[in-house]
Amino acid sequence: MKNACVLLAMLAIVLAGCSRDEGKQAGQVTVGFSQVGAESEWRTANTASVKSALVAPGFDLKFSDAQQKQENQIKALRSFIAQRVDVIAFSPVVESGWEPVLREAKAAGIPVVLTDRAVKVSDASLYASLIGSDFIEEGRKAGRWLLQDSTGKPGPIRVVELQGTVGSAPAIDRMKGFHEVIDTDPRFKLVRSQSGDFTRAKGKEVMEAFLKAEGGHIDVLFAHNDDMAIGAIQAIEEAGLTPGKDIRIVSIDGVRGAFEAMKAGKLNATIECNPLFGAQLAQLIRDVHAGKPVPKRIVVEEGVFTQDQAAAALPGRKY
Ligand code: AHR
Repeated sequence: MKNACVLLAMLAIVLAGCSRDEGKQAGQVTVGFSQVGAESEWRTANTASVKSALVAPGFDLKFSDAQQKQENQIKALRSFIAQRVDVIAFSPVVESGWEPVLREAKAAGIPVVLTDRAVKVSDASLYASLIGSDFIEEGRKAGRWLLQDSTGKPGPIRVVELQGTVGSAPAIDRMKGFHEVIDTDPRFKLVRSQSGDFTRAKGKEVMEAFLKAEGGHIDVLFAHNDDMAIGAIQAIEEAGLTPGKDIRIVSIDGVRGAFEAMKAGKLNATIECNPLFGAQLAQLIRDVHAGKPVPKRIVVEEGVFTQDQAAAALPGRKY
């Protein structure tokens, strides 16, 4: 009886090994990637970059779209663990609530790489590395642009803010960085701040509400991403105001739509947030899988663009 049990246990281990390697070519790294969703132009570019690097020889990619819901991401992560992928990579919708599932991945011996957004965990060993932008610095850059563009303008300067997804790292950090800078100048008054969930439709809807509530008395819009700014531009035009003039607008991402809006004079500045880190991510995953030491934090390079640079920069924009 004891021998039969041992045999059964050995068989289970062999079968589990088989399912992990099923359909896999020798040397391939199986990656489970959970993406936030398809909420913005930025996200579409990021997905394309990740797929072009991981739908490639050497990788077997299992891709899952969370449609901006944390519960979908947790399900996807659990399914990757059950499939015994080699590495899990994901861009967390929000910062909190990851500890249990990350512990499950750790117990299963599957390393986790964070892309784009951070998580809040008490144990940093629950993930191997985070590759993405410095969102606090992006917020500061937006604030610095506004300070410079407001030189010689009298106060009060009435500012509204369209925040990203509530509880997400970019929304929390961009707000922090922006306020760190503008709060040093008493001319700036934040009159409204609300989430537009990083989408055009929501950005427009919330901006309409801001315009109504403030009777149009808004001088500046800071949008946590370009898509919300583009939605807000429509709302401003429909309210009979001129975006870029009556209301100065600064947003974040640097997508083509923002460059087109700047070229048309409707958006004043965009702070670049670089989504094209697929190739860097692929190398990071290879290194993590090979057990090599990797940096805990990899920050991607990005710049700041203003209206006067838009026409020249537009043809070269890759996203
Ligand atoms: O996490 C990056 C942010 O998420 C981008 O700025 C935004 O456009 C996206 O939805």
